Amino acid sequence: MKGTGQSLYKRAKSRIPGGTQLLSKRPEMFLPGQWPSYYSRASGVEVWDLDGNRYIDMSYMGLGACVLGYADPDVDGAVKEAIDSGSMCTLNCPEEIELADLLCELHPWAEMVRYTRGGGEAMAVAVRIARARTRRDRIAFCGYHGWHDWYLAANLGEEDALDGHLLPGLEPRGVPRCLRNTALPFHYNKIDELKAIVSKYKGEIAAVIMEPLRNFDPEPGFLEGVREIATSIKAVLVFDEVSSGWRLNTGGAHLVYGIEPDIAVFSKGMSNGYPMAAIIGASDVMQAAQDSFISSTYWTERTGPAAAMATIKKHRRLDVAQHLVATGKSIQSGWKSAGDRHGLNVSVSGIPPLGHFSFDYENGQAIRTLFTQEMLGKGFLATNAFYAAHAHQKHHVQSYLRAVDETFAFIAQVIKNNKVEKLLKGGVAHSGFYRLA
Ligand SMILES: Cc1ncc(COP(=O)(O)O)c(C=O)c1O
Repeated sequence: MKGTGQSLYKRAKSRIPGGTQLLSKRPEMFLPGQWPSYYSRASGVEVWDLDGNRYIDMSYMGLGACVLGYADPDVDGAVKEAIDSGSMCTLNCPEEIELADLLCELHPWAEMVRYTRGGGEAMAVAVRIARARTRRDRIAFCGYHGWHDWYLAANLGEEDALDGHLLPGLEPRGVPRCLRNTALPFHYNKIDELKAIVSKYKGEIAAVIMEPLRNFDPEPGFLEGVREIATSIKAVLVFDEVSSGWRLNTGGAHLVYGIEPDIAVFSKGMSNGYPMAAIIGASDVMQAAQDSFISSTYWTERTGPAAAMATIKKHRRLDVAQHLVATGKSIQSGWKSAGDRHGLNVSVSGIPPLGHFSFDYENGQAIRTLFTQEMLGKGFLATNAFYAAHAHQKHHVQSYLRAVDETFAFIAQVIKNNKVEKLLKGGVAHSGFYRLA
C-alpha cells in the first residue's frame, strides 16, 4: 500500500480532461482517494497495482470486455501471431471474412457484417445505416448506447436549463441543438411508451434501438411487440449486444429469446480485451452502408479480428456462457443471503453474468463506498456489481463471498451506530449517469 496510483491519477487529471478515457474507470466511481487506479499487470482474475499489491477482480473485469479472463493465453497467442504476420498493411486482412462467416453462422438471420473497433462507434454506424436505408432521421431508443451525437441528442432540452433531464449525468454540450427530438427514449418493458413515440412521429422513425435485455427479463410479448412495431413502421430494429452479447450464450442474447433484429451490434466480450466491434445484419439493410460513407483506417487492422476469432471459438468450445451464468447466480444468491443474514436491505438485479446489488438506504452510496473500502483491504476489487469471467473459479467465488459476509456483518453494525460516513477514508463514491432502462 503506497498509493502510487493515486499520485499518478492526480497528475492524470491535469493532463487528461476527466482523468480517464472511460467514465466507468474513474477512480472516484469506486473509492475516492483510495482506489489503486492503475495496474501494472493483469492475468486471469488477478490484478497487480503500481505498488505490487495483488487483488482479485470481483468487479467489472475490464468493464465487461474480458469474458474469458485477463491475458487469456489463446487469445493473446492469436494476437501475437497477427502481430508477427504484420498487423497493418495496404492490403486487407483475410481474417475479416473468416470472422464475418463465423458471426453469420452463429446468427443465421444475418448475412453481412461491418466492423469498427469500439461499441459506441459501432452503434453510430448502425444508426447511420438505418438512417441511410429509411431516409428518415428519428430514432426511438431504450438504454445506454455510447457517447455519440445521435444518442446524446436525447439530452437536449428546449433550452440550456432543461438539458440533461432524460439522461442525468450525460452532458450534451457540443451536440448540435438542431438534433433535439431526433433521439426519443422509451423504457424497457414499456411497449406503450414506444407506441406513443410511433404514433407521434408516424413515418419519421429510422430505427428502434435497444438492448435485448440487461437489468430485467423481457416481459412476455415485449420483444415480440417491439419487433412487430418496427416491422409495421418499416423502421430498422437494432439490438445493441455490446454488453449483453456473449454472456448467456455464444452470440447475441436475442438468440435465447428467438427474436430476430435487422441489425445486431457486438463489441466488448467478443474479443476479450482487444479493440473490436461488429455490426451484423440482413443484406438488404446492410447494403445501405453503400449509400453513405462509413470508413476508417484502423477498422482494417488485424489484431481485432484475430482476437475475436480466438475468443469466439474458445467461448463456444468451452461453453463459457454456461460458466458465466452459473458463477453469476452463485454471486447473486451470495449477496442476497449475506444481506438477509445480517439484516441489511440489499436488492439484487441484473442478468446473472452482469449482476448488481444496492444498499437500499438513504445513504446507500456511502454504504457502497464503505463496502469497496473494506473489500479492497481484504484484497478484492469490488463494487456493487459483478461481471463474471471464465477465469473466475469456485475458490474465487468462495473466498469473495466469505469476505462479503464479514463485510456485510461489519456494515450492519456500522449502520446501527450511524458511523458509515465517519469510517470512509476518502469521500463518497460518485454514482454513474442514470441509465434509462
Ligand atoms: C449497451 C452498450 N452499448 C454501447 C456501449 C458503448 O461501448 P464502448 O464503451 O465500447 O464505446 C456500451 C458500453 O458500456 C454498452 O453497455
